[in-house]
Amino acid sequence: MSVPRTSALTPEQARQDMVDALVEERADLGMEKLPEQVEEALRAVPREVFVPGLPLVEAYDRHQAIVTKHDEAKRVALSSVSAPSIIALMLQRADIRPGHRVLEIGSGGYNAALISHLVGETGQVTSIDIDPDVIARAERCLKEAGVDQVHLAVTDGEHGFASRAPYDRIIVTAGAWDLSPSWEEQLAVGGRVVIPMRVRGLTRCLTLERAEEPGYWRSLAADMCGFVRMQGVGEHWERMPLLHQEEGSQVGLRLEDGPQVDVDALRRALTQDGETVWAGACVRADEPTDALDLYLASTADGWALLTAQRGAITSKLIRPVVLMGTPAMVDEEGESFSYRALRRSPDDEELYEFGAVGHGPAGRRVAQNMVDLIGVWDREHRGGPGPRIDLVPIDTAAEDLPTGRVVSKRHTHMILNWTANPFE
Ligand SMILES: C[S@@+](CC[C@H](N)C(=O)[O-])C[C@H]1O[C@@H](n2cnc3c(N)ncnc32)[C@H](O)[C@@H]1O
Repeated sequence: MSVPRTSALTPEQARQDMVDALVEERADLGMEKLPEQVEEALRAVPREVFVPGLPLVEAYDRHQAIVTKHDEAKRVALSSVSAPSIIALMLQRADIRPGHRVLEIGSGGYNAALISHLVGETGQVTSIDIDPDVIARAERCLKEAGVDQVHLAVTDGEHGFASRAPYDRIIVTAGAWDLSPSWEEQLAVGGRVVIPMRVRGLTRCLTLERAEEPGYWRSLAADMCGFVRMQGVGEHWERMPLLHQEEGSQVGLRLEDGPQVDVDALRRALTQDGETVWAGACVRADEPTDALDLYLASTADGWALLTAQRGAITSKLIRPVVLMGTPAMVDEEGESFSYRALRRSPDDEELYEFGAVGHGPAGRRVAQNMVDLIGVWDREHRGGPGPRIDLVPIDTAAEDLPTGRVVSKRHTHMILNWTANPFE
């Protein structure tokens, strides 16, 4: 039972409370225990110094990233001090040891201070950012926190930071689309890259280890995460045709690769009533759907993400969706589409049933295709280990590509295979 506080919250108390809550939450969710050294670092580094002026409860909200810079025109965040929960997970995946040389791409100060704690006096931390304001801010905060071991530099992370290589670990903290060849060149033998990477529009934090052959990588884990977008040479924007343009009620499709679409036909399709097909497969209200999203992204032809502004839902133009991106599919003609829907289960009010809404001449068929894939995931992959994710060089001959869904980027092909053992 928690004891009511009689005095004002101190930074020390807020920090310990945050870590206690993080540890407890991970146990409740059945997640792996946080490594002791990561827990110790989180208990030691004063996060409030890296988000000055913020009330302690916000500074120490374990799930809250603190945005420090916006792009007003594009209405997106450019920089933030990441949320403790995702930082903890990435540090766990990175498995940083005393004496390691670590490169952090995307700075803020807080994570670099934690890494400093993990590598100890014999280690080395380099933290780079494309934005001089971010580096100036990180420098001030690190000084204030008494952390003097971090080498900061303003540069585009796409090129890594050759003068302090090799690195045992590279941690990328901006949403990347591809893996830069510089990072492989600058990584020590047995090294690891932890990186939020886009997988057909979804973002997953991959823990990448090199396979034997140069240019080949295997992911040890693919965790849910969200990050500000990578800028600079590695920046990549998906196509985003708008199907409904009214400000406040916009509906769009985010297309990373694949389908060519007839935007006018899709716009017309959305003006007509949709047809909904229900899947029978259900989830609890608090159950994450990220595994299903990744399965659909890996298996659906014509894959897209439907994005929406709230007004499109309140006006009933579309059924309720995840505003940032709901699984969607476009047919071969590019004239019809479907998107994933949920309704309270008619059989059990604790559960929500998956379905798909189809629009356009082939709307019902695309909705049925999506529901069929949801059925396969439910029967064969639900609760399983997820896909094996390999990265192979972009010049790999087609006949040498591993089996699975191939997502081609600039330097690499990403291969997602749900039938291979991801740990083999
Ligand atoms: C989420 S913030 C980093 C958070 C930080 N690691 C922390 O301690 O919480 C992402 C940062 O990546 C930076 N960034 C984006 N593209 C970059 C690039 N190409 N090279 C280096 N930094 C980049 C942004 O300027 C932003 O400051």
